[in-house]
Amino acid sequence: MKILAIYPYIHLSSAALLIDEERFDRQKMSTSFPSKSAEWCLKSQGLKWEDLDMIVVPWNPMRNVNHASKRWVSEMNWRGQLLSHVPIQVMRAIDGPMENEMEIRWGKTRIIYMNHHECHAANGFYLSPFEEADILTIDGHGEDETCFFGSGKGSLITQRSNVIYPHSVGLFYGVFTDFLGFTPDVDEWKVMAISSYSQEKNEYDEKIRSLINLTDKGFELDLTYFDYFSFDRRPHFYHQKLIDLIGEPRKKNDPITSRHQAIAGAMQRVFVETVTHLLKLSEKHGTKSGNIVISGGAAMNSVFNGLLDNMDIYKNSSISSCPDDSGVAIGAALLAWHRYSNKPRKIQEQTHNFWGPSYSDDEIRDTLQKFKIPYEEPANLTEQIAKEIADGKLVGWFQGAMEFGHRALGNRSILADPRKESTKDVVNAAVKYRESFRPFAPAVLEERAEEIFELRPGRKVRFMERVVPIRPEWTGKLGAVNHVDGTGRAQTVERNLNPRYYDLIKAFGEITGVPVLLNTSFNLNGEPIVMTPEHAVRTFFSCGLDMLVIGACVVRKNKR
Ligand SMILES: [Fe+2]
Repeated sequence: MKILAIYPYIHLSSAALLIDEERFDRQKMSTSFPSKSAEWCLKSQGLKWEDLDMIVVPWNPMRNVNHASKRWVSEMNWRGQLLSHVPIQVMRAIDGPMENEMEIRWGKTRIIYMNHHECHAANGFYLSPFEEADILTIDGHGEDETCFFGSGKGSLITQRSNVIYPHSVGLFYGVFTDFLGFTPDVDEWKVMAISSYSQEKNEYDEKIRSLINLTDKGFELDLTYFDYFSFDRRPHFYHQKLIDLIGEPRKKNDPITSRHQAIAGAMQRVFVETVTHLLKLSEKHGTKSGNIVISGGAAMNSVFNGLLDNMDIYKNSSISSCPDDSGVAIGAALLAWHRYSNKPRKIQEQTHNFWGPSYSDDEIRDTLQKFKIPYEEPANLTEQIAKEIADGKLVGWFQGAMEFGHRALGNRSILADPRKESTKDVVNAAVKYRESFRPFAPAVLEERAEEIFELRPGRKVRFMERVVPIRPEWTGKLGAVNHVDGTGRAQTVERNLNPRYYDLIKAFGEITGVPVLLNTSFNLNGEPIVMTPEHAVRTFFSCGLDMLVIGACVVRKNKR
């Protein structure tokens, strides 16, 4: 069965089988129709549009049109509106419960619109190692839901209950992202990074806590403090009442003060408390399998995720590499497959996110030769590059297939020596030009991870999805990746999943005694991660990187 999923016109436009659109159209967080990524998906498998059995979309607009105002839908302006006008009128006539999915079909072509939160759930569950698990999804909002409680067993996902818009944990976080001068739906992780500067409870904790009422069905927000749901009125996600409660918001370019840190810290603590409550509810009403899958944009909160192994709620937890809207196209494709293929589920835990385009060494050499760029191909590539990183060089690292989603995991990465705190400033000055409060991530050899980080035995963190404490004896050796609260967004690296990357970190460890590299995505601030060799070369020559390691080739700036 050949299924293509597309998710157009939102901030993380994507297609599956499987690639995000921004890398193709070169617009960061592209919202365009993902035709380029969809075409790559098809071409990479030797398929044409007409070969597809179905096209699926991780959003069911029937739920939205059903709520459309009568004045918008009582008359047609052009005949194309028959597409929505007829279903709306029929829905009104029948007045029955809304189905989770709808289908449009002409000829052999089928387009199936699926429930957004079910697609989040499918992304999390079908990529997890669990035969059976409870599933909790939390995001800004889907068609009308903001939270899904359910479970998965074999190939079946069932919903138990939900929380309905406008009560939303994701938008609660968005409110404070906006309040602190950042862009909601985009910059939440910056607020999470700032929150680490405030570890102790402060005057804002109780005030922000009072905005959420935890209930036996989930939670309710005191909506009088918010304004994200009054679309035509809002300049901001928050209401004047929030300013009256906690003071003036930060303007975009204002410096970040200890007050902003205190607000971010208090809000993150309330977020943790709320999601912990939802987890407890999920467990109380769930299957008692001991397993939980968390998905939706809130599962990008790696600080919260890092706490999961120490909570006494679920024994095991799983979070995919792309739990947010970047992964709902994948979720939709998997959901449709399990719903329509009539084949039993083969449990296939996601072990990597290298699902994008790759380029052969010949293609890479052609690009370098076309641009008349001198390069060498050292026989002992990883040893040599490890030595140069230990000598302070900044390396653009381009290998194999591009990562899907937000996080570069060693195929489109910038790598540096993690030992000295000053390296953060060097990377920021040379390449990233980004805010100094944002930490860089450590990539660590899997077998050394528990020695360096406070990870539970056997815990793999393949997608940087959990922030964990660095053991005190190592914090002094990891100055560039040690966040203000002594934590790191670790990535454990296994040799069988990425041998060249693993060998590089191992060689660096043998030279320095520190089997860790600083890993950040290979892009300039505000640009998408590089995809092709040409992107890599252009980015390399537009910034202060010292070396580009691209396939087997090494390019140096100071080489004539
Ligand atoms: Fe979502």
